[in-house]
Amino acid sequence: MDILVLAGGTGSRLWPRSRRTKPKQFLPLLSNRTMLQETVDRVRPLIEEGRVFVVTGSDYEELIREQLSDIPRNNVILEPSGRGTASAIGLAAIHMRRSAPDAVMAVLSADHLILRNEAFRQALQAAEVAAREGYLVTLGVKPSFANTGYGYIQCGELITEAHNHKIHRVQRFAEKPDQDTAERYLAKGNYFWNAGIFVWQTKTFLDAIGRHMPELRNQLNQVQASFGKSRYHDTLAHVWENVENITVDYGIMERAPNVAVVPVDIGWSDVGDWHTLTTLMSDDDSANVVIGPHVEVDTKSTLIYSDSGRMIATIGLDGFLVVDTGDALLIAPRDRAQDVKKIVDQLRTEG
Ligand code: GDD
Ligand code: MG
Repeated sequence: MDILVLAGGTGSRLWPRSRRTKPKQFLPLLSNRTMLQETVDRVRPLIEEGRVFVVTGSDYEELIREQLSDIPRNNVILEPSGRGTASAIGLAAIHMRRSAPDAVMAVLSADHLILRNEAFRQALQAAEVAAREGYLVTLGVKPSFANTGYGYIQCGELITEAHNHKIHRVQRFAEKPDQDTAERYLAKGNYFWNAGIFVWQTKTFLDAIGRHMPELRNQLNQVQASFGKSRYHDTLAHVWENVENITVDYGIMERAPNVAVVPVDIGWSDVGDWHTLTTLMSDDDSANVVIGPHVEVDTKSTLIYSDSGRMIATIGLDGFLVVDTGDALLIAPRDRAQDVKKIVDQLRTEG
């Protein structure tokens, strides 16, 4: 099985620790390896020689070569700019097909935590079985609350069983629903969170692009026609200017009829925002997670994260996030963790 790691996101909801110059996937957030390195370490037993690929923006090329020094040079696929995961995976797929036309690719995010690695590898192998039958397969996680930052998958009939996992048809795929809808899905009980881990044949995926995003398919054809020629980079840069900025979830998964899900129990978390990250770190008797110098009075369920060396003092806080990196300070209620993205958007537009 080929591995493709998506590593081009900016990790904006973990601002100010995650920055555009060094987003979260390049940081050692929960261990002494970076999230990117852990992503690859986790699947090493499944990898065939030379078959790990990474797709990312040109700005991150150096970080990737530093952190994954053993992957072949040509396996780092560079997008001229971030245009969302649909085009990133499409670009990677046309590259990967050159050397292995019938390959199945597993698309992993460089910023996930998975606790049960062996179960995860089995789930990927189960997904591969359905992928060989022409399905676009995704891993589904049992939801624990109405998180609006995820995709939701309505589970349909059983297709088959393999490698200790069931594989179901997907009845509906709904990316990032609003709060009410997410709550409705949760109450229904036959919905999973989309883990954002996909398995399919490169051919199946490119066919799906042809059907649901025909313009992107044409753009990728133009890039493909320049393979091995000196005009490759110019062609790619030119084509990319007009590529639609959309994620694979909206562009393909919500539209395609041949989607399957493998429900998994692998200790998965998307380390997507400060609230989630806080739940993954060890807390003290008052349920505070403290990193850095801190003094408190009556503070509960609060994250105090300081890598500035500055002393953080809090009084009477319950359920807050306080993140200090020296050049920026974030203070927010934990249940507004998704909105950190809005701050980053604002900073970006204000330059
Ligand atoms: N190369 C590249 N180019 N990578 C990208 C780009 C891009 O333009 N945009 C995002 N990525 C990478 C990110 O680094 C991350 O590893 C992965 O693609 C997913 O992007 P996120 O931005 O983290 O997506 P999300 O968390 O909002 O939503 C996705 O993941 C959820 C689970 O974590 C969706 O697939 C949801 O449906 C899913 O529930
Ligand atoms: Mg994410």
